[in-house]
Amino acid sequence: MRAWKMNRGGGIASLACVQRSDPALRPGEVRVAVRAVSLNHRDLLMANDGDGSLLVPASDAAGVIVETGAGVTAWRIGDRVFAAFFPDWIDGEPSDANSARGFGGGLDGLLAERVVLPASALVRVPATLEFAAAATLPCAGVTAWNALFEAGRARPGDRVLVLGSGGVSTFALQLARAAGLGVIATSSDDAKLARLQGLGAGATINYRNEPAWDRRVLELTDGRGVDLVLETGGDATLSRSIRAARKGGRIAVIGGTSGGYGGVLEPWALVGGAKTLVGELVGSRTMAESLARFVDENQVAPVIDRRFAFEDARAAFEHLAGARHLGKVVIELPGA
Ligand SMILES: NC(=O)c1ccc[n+]([C@@H]2O[C@H](COP(=O)([O-])OP(=O)(O)OC[C@H]3O[C@@H](n4cnc5c(N)ncnc54)[C@H](OP(=O)(O)O)[C@@H]3O)[C@@H](O)[C@H]2O)c1
Repeated sequence: MRAWKMNRGGGIASLACVQRSDPALRPGEVRVAVRAVSLNHRDLLMANDGDGSLLVPASDAAGVIVETGAGVTAWRIGDRVFAAFFPDWIDGEPSDANSARGFGGGLDGLLAERVVLPASALVRVPATLEFAAAATLPCAGVTAWNALFEAGRARPGDRVLVLGSGGVSTFALQLARAAGLGVIATSSDDAKLARLQGLGAGATINYRNEPAWDRRVLELTDGRGVDLVLETGGDATLSRSIRAARKGGRIAVIGGTSGGYGGVLEPWALVGGAKTLVGELVGSRTMAESLARFVDENQVAPVIDRRFAFEDARAAFEHLAGARHLGKVVIELPGA
């Protein structure tokens, strides 16, 4: 069977399609024929930073169980599944132990025709979702879910700010709207802003034309600020995200598409406004199950920007790196 490998730190150019044999299953494992894989910003980080080690990339995939190992009773051949981002984080809070291993990071990832997964990490794909949509749930979907409803503690009537039109932010916009929350969305591109409005954003801001976008957020909220910010921008956005949150508001710190978080944080920005900065780390299998149920019940159709064939995985990575996408970039395999 075929799998893509990359050299950590070797960039997208190091991606190579290789032949691998299927390993035998150990007790508690299943073999899944992958039907779709979605890419995340993290996959670019893995390609661009690292120690040169070889890694099968990608944390997010959905597929069909084709073999079950000894002791697997909860799953059957033919079941449609995806795997939680951290296979050891089943429920409760994250710990060093349960978040040490993640697919496409500490563990080989899922950009392969067949993968072996622990049965305990699996989540059932809702009947209403095609494989491509299900493949967007494990990282971007669960991260958005956690940032909104678990770490972010969004409540009915809240207004949420999402930054940019990447995978996490677009998913968060869709989930927030399905939950009846108000959303303000930013982007560097007016055409994308129009599409975000179409997805339900009540107000939009072009952060390139309006660099002081936090002031615009305050204007849009009668000087109050939003209840919750999903901070995905990094150094370029964190200070403004804090200013855009209301007194007593929350900022879910997720990542840094503009660069990391090397800057100095001014503590008074939090103290004076009694604001909470909460870091979040994807989420547990239980959160993935809650998300799958919510997506199913509310008929949320994750936005897929573009689909690529398995053979064209390198082009999919390049498309993601170009940041022209809105929503998710998906690689499909036969049978998707
Ligand atoms: N903590 C966690 O567990 C976790 C989980 C998932 C992701 N993350 C992190 O979250 C971030 C988002 O991930 P993703 O996969 O959604 O990324 P993505 O799809 O690659 O997002 C790319 C988009 O980010 C937006 N962006 C870039 N610079 C920006 C800025 N200065 N202000 C506002 N938006 C900006 C751009 O939107 P426009 O083109 O619309 O301007 C760009 O298209 C990444 O840093 C990722 O590593 C963290």
